[in-house]
Amino acid sequence: MKLPELKIGELHAKIPVVLGGMGIGVTRYRLASAVANENGIGMMSGIHIGYDEPDFPSNTFKANIRAMKKHISMAREISPKGIIGLNFMTVMNRYGDYVKAAVDEGIDIIVSGAGLPLELPQYVKDSKTKIVPIVSSGRALSLILRKWDMKYSKTADAVVIEGVEAGGHLGFKEHEIKDHSFSFKQTIEDVKIILNKFESKYGIKIPIIAGGGIFDRKDAEDVISLGADAVQMGTRFIGTEECDAAMAYKQVFLEMKKEDIEIIISPVGLPARAYKNKFLSDMKNGLAMGSQKCSACLKYCYPGKNEYCIADALIRAVKGDVDDGLIFTGSNGYKINKIDTVKNIFKEFH
Ligand SMILES: Cc1cc2nc3c(=O)[nH]c(=O)nc-3n(C[C@H](O)[C@H](O)[C@H](O)COP(=O)(O)O)c2cc1C
Repeated sequence: MKLPELKIGELHAKIPVVLGGMGIGVTRYRLASAVANENGIGMMSGIHIGYDEPDFPSNTFKANIRAMKKHISMAREISPKGIIGLNFMTVMNRYGDYVKAAVDEGIDIIVSGAGLPLELPQYVKDSKTKIVPIVSSGRALSLILRKWDMKYSKTADAVVIEGVEAGGHLGFKEHEIKDHSFSFKQTIEDVKIILNKFESKYGIKIPIIAGGGIFDRKDAEDVISLGADAVQMGTRFIGTEECDAAMAYKQVFLEMKKEDIEIIISPVGLPARAYKNKFLSDMKNGLAMGSQKCSACLKYCYPGKNEYCIADALIRAVKGDVDDGLIFTGSNGYKINKIDTVKNIFKEFH
């Protein structure tokens, strides 16, 4: 099968592979620009992108905004013609301020999940920035697009369908993950029915990007033959030289076994897929690890009640403290068997 180009409005990616935004700090300018240079779409994660700025603990918002501008500008320098986007979780506090700052810097695409990004269009007004919701069901997409249409006379430029095999927070209930009720085939069909209506109203084609458990070309071809236009891949790109996490973090994946991957309920109350390490067993054994200083990064997070601060735990991991940090992974994390280059991985998709 010849893989199609991914067209999101006037943005054309020759290879229909979108890097999944991975926070905290796993996809920043290096990995995003490497993917963009291979004619995919490079996605940075906007959650605590400034975690290593010196004033991050005392001045979190300013440090994040400064770092975000820096990472956008570095990505553009390395990939001047590439397509670069930012992923913001809808549940982030000051979500609108972060999105607006990225739009002011001329970011190409904003991708948003982890909640319904119902207000996203108001933050990209009068710009060329494309908006892409992440959903796990036709129902969620319908809610978002009806609201965007009624309130903002706008629709999505593309849609990510994130399936049950993805890494990080998942848009499913625990039982839906365990009973394998999700199917790409059904969800793509449901989503297409909803998109048809908005495609004819707005006179555009809204591509579907499917992600979650896509590891190689065969996986991509399978989901494209079900009706998707492109794929979003996260975990596979952790095993690259360009991945922005510490080397110790990447090396964890080389030793990971299938049975080391589990579903947890994160402190924000959502199911998530993660690597079963010392940190997770400590938490299960009641060894609480309170936050040093809560930066109130997420809505619906209740610091006094949680065993640990998810931001602190993800930051420890990305810096290389892989025993005491939280490591998210997709269900295919154990398949990474070497640290490759982004260029090599893309050869498969030509
Ligand atoms: C380490 C890690 C961190 C992630 N962080 C985010 C995030 O901050 N926001 C988000 O929307 N998705 C996040 N995801 C999901 C990815 O963007 C991607 O859609 C998903 O993992 C795709 O499945 P795959 O990993 O099997 O390719 C994360 C995934 C991983 C593995």
